[in-house]
Parts: sequence; structure tokens; C-alpha cells
Amino acid sequence: MPHLSRRARERVVEIDSELPIMKLLPERFHDSVLNPEGVIAMGIAENALMTPVFTEYIEKNMRLHADHFKYHLTARRGHAHSTEDALPEYINDTFHPRIPVTRQNSVVGPGVGSLIGEFCWQVCDDGEAFMITAPFYGGFQPDCQYPSRTKLVVVDVPPEIDPLSKDAIPYLEQTIEKSKVNGPTIRGVILCNPHNPLGRVYPEESIVAYASLAEKYDLHLLVDEIYGNQVYPSSLVPNPPPFVSALAMDLPMLAKCDPARIHVVAGPSKDFGASGLRIGILISQHNPEIIKLLDSATMLNAIPGPTDAIFAAAINDKEWRDWFLEESRRRISEAYEVIVTWCNLHQIPIFPSYAGQFAVMDLAKILERFGEDKAMAEKKEALTFAMLKAGVLIVPTGQDQSPTRYRIVFVRPKEIIELALYRLEAAFGLSK
Ligand SMILES: Cc1ncc(COP(=O)(O)O)c(C=O)c1O
Repeated sequence: MPHLSRRARERVVEIDSELPIMKLLPERFHDSVLNPEGVIAMGIAENALMTPVFTEYIEKNMRLHADHFKYHLTARRGHAHSTEDALPEYINDTFHPRIPVTRQNSVVGPGVGSLIGEFCWQVCDDGEAFMITAPFYGGFQPDCQYPSRTKLVVVDVPPEIDPLSKDAIPYLEQTIEKSKVNGPTIRGVILCNPHNPLGRVYPEESIVAYASLAEKYDLHLLVDEIYGNQVYPSSLVPNPPPFVSALAMDLPMLAKCDPARIHVVAGPSKDFGASGLRIGILISQHNPEIIKLLDSATMLNAIPGPTDAIFAAAINDKEWRDWFLEESRRRISEAYEVIVTWCNLHQIPIFPSYAGQFAVMDLAKILERFGEDKAMAEKKEALTFAMLKAGVLIVPTGQDQSPTRYRIVFVRPKEIIELALYRLEAAFGLSK
């Protein structure tokens, strides 16, 4: 085989362990028309509830301009209202930052994951690390790892402690102290608010505690707020606490923290169920060096012109956009209720979520059916096998202190959710 770099050879091995769902061959996935017997994968956070509405709007309202066909750097000099202006405005309207987000203190790039990857490259040398509490969104691992080879140090918080509470901070501190002795050098901490997979928001006092921690140990604080517009009520949590962006808080004053350490990533792709279009924004209001570096990194690794045209149309039409966000939350809430009802029917414990696009259920009892005396890993493998045989797939929450928790992405049309739940009943050996 022709030569591969040492880092590429290491990467090839890592890829296999990162996102197991990716290993499923594309032709095995469900399609109502082309492959009705295929596997319904309920593991990837793609919101299909509003797709027909979004598609119809875009077909009528999107205008491609000649500049959209050029390099992004030419395009952004050209037409007046690209997403570079519209996206900061969107964040200002929906997250209410204390200091307005502008073109100058933010960078638009092809997805939040890609921006996290670039950001890690700016702040970590080879083999240095970011820290996160478990459970966490599995994509953070590859986002940190590639291209900068940043490690993600996972902090286990005992199951009796809420990982979103500030009681988790001492565990982060212990991890930092340990890494001072054994490595790796920790450069930052990731906070995902609203949390994926737990579907809840961090209390403001926790965000302040994270910012204080960042100051105390000279760390960056990277807050992922991609689900900030998706807090919804349900029968389990009829009055959810509001999402408060780190940008809306006076963290420099409350946490006595250098604001240059605080960075927020967000974007409209989850809001509009359009993650394939690739768009995200990183906001760093007091760190011009990071902005300069990211501006340069996204010069050629930019959002595509049609993506720019689509989102500029959608998020600039404020009346329609606000209606859309509200209607989307209503549909998410309705879809969540289908899962709650199903879990109640089968006495499967469900974690009371109220944000994002996923529900977390505890399959401890179901897993017992797959060999009481077997090791947990074996039971989980047998369960996965049974699900694939039944034509459905959900995945564990990932490095969770409660290893029997599974995450189901439920933002699918009703008939798909119902079919998926029907297949899960078969896989779990449940009677209707
Ligand atoms: C918390 C979180 N951050 C980032 C991403 C990736 O976002 P993007 O598709 O914009 O790269 C996801 C996708 O599921 C996510 O759940």
C-alpha cells in the first residue's frame, strides 16, 4: 500500500471505534418506498418533523445569486446580506446576548462539528486535551480528535450526582489535578447546553461554576448551544426552565473570569432540520486571535453558496422564522409524548427531558432478558443484534455512569416513530 502518515495510520484504527452506527451499510437503512424492511436508525439527531414545511418555503423563497457560485470569500464581499450577517442577527434575536454578536466577533463555518475541530486545533497542541462530563454527545470525540489530535478526557460523575449541577465541579477538578501528574495537559472544558443526550439545560449557577473553573485552571470554556432553540414542554416537565445562553450572562463579573476564555458554538441546522446543509457559528467576543485564526481556517473550508442562500432566506424572514421555531417546538413536544406514552405502557423508565431531539430510557430490565448472568457488554451486543434483526436501532447514551441508558432520537414523522416502536417491541420481546 502507498505510504500513509503515522497520524493517518493511527486515525484509521480510531475511526472504527468512534461511531458504530456508521458501520451499518447504507443499503441497510429504512426508506418507506425503496427499502421498507430496512433498519430505522433512531440514533442520529436529524429533525424530520418540519422538513416538508422548510422544503416548501425554500423552494418558494430562496434566491441564488451569481456570487453564490463563487468562492465564499468572494461571495461574502459581494452580496449584502449573507449568513455572515444573518446568523449573528439570528443569535441576537433568539439567545439575547449581553454584547451583540457581529460579523467581527464570530465565524461562520461548515457545521458546529467542523468549527469545534478547528477550534481544538487553535488551542491544543498534539495530544493535549479537552474535558467533558459523561454522558456526552459521541460526536465530540471525533470532532476534537480530527484534525488536531486533541484528546477528550471523560469525567465520570457518580450516578447519584446530577452531572449538570455544580456538584459535578469537584470531579472535574480531580481530573485536572490527576492530569497534572499523569497527563494529558488539559486546555479546555466542553459544556453542552442544552445537554445532549440528557435533554436538559444547565442551571445558571453551573455555567458560572464552569467559568470559574476555567479561570482557576487557565482553561478555555467551549459551550455548545446547538439545541438552544429547542426547549419544549411535556407531560413529564410541563414548565421547563428556559434556556439561558452563556452569551446572555455576565460571566466575567459573576465568575471573575477572563472573557477571552469563553466561546460559544451554535447554528440553525438543528432548528431547521437541515444538518446536511452544513452551517454553524463560533462566537468569541473577546478573543480576536481565535476569530482571526478561524477566519483563515474557514476561508476555503467554507459553507457552500447554496447553503448560504437557503439560510439567509430562512432566518432573515423573521416573522416566518419565529413561527417555524414555535411550530417545530410544538411538534417536538408532541413526538416526545408518543415516546413517553410508549415507555409508560411498557413500564420502561424514561428520563424527564425537555430539550433537544432525543429521549433517554433505561433498558436495565430489557437487557436482563438477554442473559441475566452475562456481562453487560454481551447483553448489549445481543440487544443490538435483536434490534437489527427487527429492523430498528437505538444506541446507548455513551460512557454513561448508568450503562443501561439508551438514547432514542424521536423527531421523525408519526408513522415512522410508530413503526420503530413496533419493531422495538419485537426486539425487546414485549407484548403490545
Ligand atoms: C451537541 C451537538 N453538537 C454538534 C453537533 C454537530 O453539528 P453539525 O452537524 O453542525 O456539525 C451535533 C449533532 O448531532 C450535536 O448533537
